[in-house]
Amino acid sequence: EASFIIVAIDGGAASGKSSTSRALSARFNLLHVDTGSFYRTMTAELLRVGVSADDADGIGQAAAALPLDTAIEGRRASMCINGRIVPDAEIRTSEVNANVSIFAAVPELRRALLDYQRNLAAVAREHGFPGLVMEGRDIGSVIFPDADFRFFLHADPAERARRRAAEGQTDSIAERDRLDTSRKTAPLACPEGATDIDSTFMTLEEVVERISGDLATRLSPVS
Ligand code: CDP
Ligand code: CDP
Ligand code: CDP
Repeated sequence: EASFIIVAIDGGAASGKSSTSRALSARFNLLHVDTGSFYRTMTAELLRVGVSADDADGIGQAAAALPLDTAIEGRRASMCINGRIVPDAEIRTSEVNANVSIFAAVPELRRALLDYQRNLAAVAREHGFPGLVMEGRDIGSVIFPDADFRFFLHADPAERARRRAAEGQTDSIAERDRLDTSRKTAPLACPEGATDIDSTFMTLEEVVERISGDLATRLSPVS
């Protein structure tokens, strides 16, 4: 069987995970999986049906009952709930920004996503991709600890706040990072053995070049 490559990219809010992963996906024809969008999608749906951020048991039960599916469009994997992709306009709201880290700290919600995320390796293979790039907070630590490549992106909080503000987003990234780092289940941290990249003074292109150099030892660029 031809080898299938798993690339894990973790880091705090606005550290550059999505833009870096998109570029790697295009360069090496990898399925791009943005797991933050999954946590956002579940949070948006649970808020919509009236589950309260104060009710951890209710969050866990409702999360476990969600009928999840995956749509592959181009090189991107999107979560479907009841067969529908919840659009960006519904998952990148200030309400979701303010609640997602609270919902993501509930262990039963994370458990509902564990096999879903791991199974995307099989989905990517079925679709003929030579590998996948999955970004999040716990990909190299919990979801794919044996991934072929694991990277952790750093950037100073002030630089990350500047990047997010430049996108015109209302997003208290410092508060999300505090919640994501301090939670008991799968906290945000650079996993042992992962390659730590401080991108504070690097352009996106420099980060992509740095990672591509490693991937090119196992994969051929397609663009
Ligand atoms: O784009 P940004 O880095 O600001 O956030 P995101 O990747 O969309 O993730 C939104 C939130 O989902 C994070 O702040 C975490 O609370 C949660 N998350 C997580 O707990 N584990 C992951 N693997 C990915 C996201
Ligand atoms: O996915 P994550 O929240 O970690 O970050 P992102 O959405 O990829 O990046 C946030 C913003 O920072 C985007 O507008 C990127 O273009 C920008 N960026 C940057 O200015 N310099 C980098 N080295 C990486 C990203
Ligand atoms: O069983 P199969 O390899 O077909 O698929 P999978 O269980 O979805 O796992 C796919 C890949 O995920 C494995 O080849 C491992 O490289 C990786 N994996 C991991 O790194 N850590 C785990 N705890 C589980 C899977």
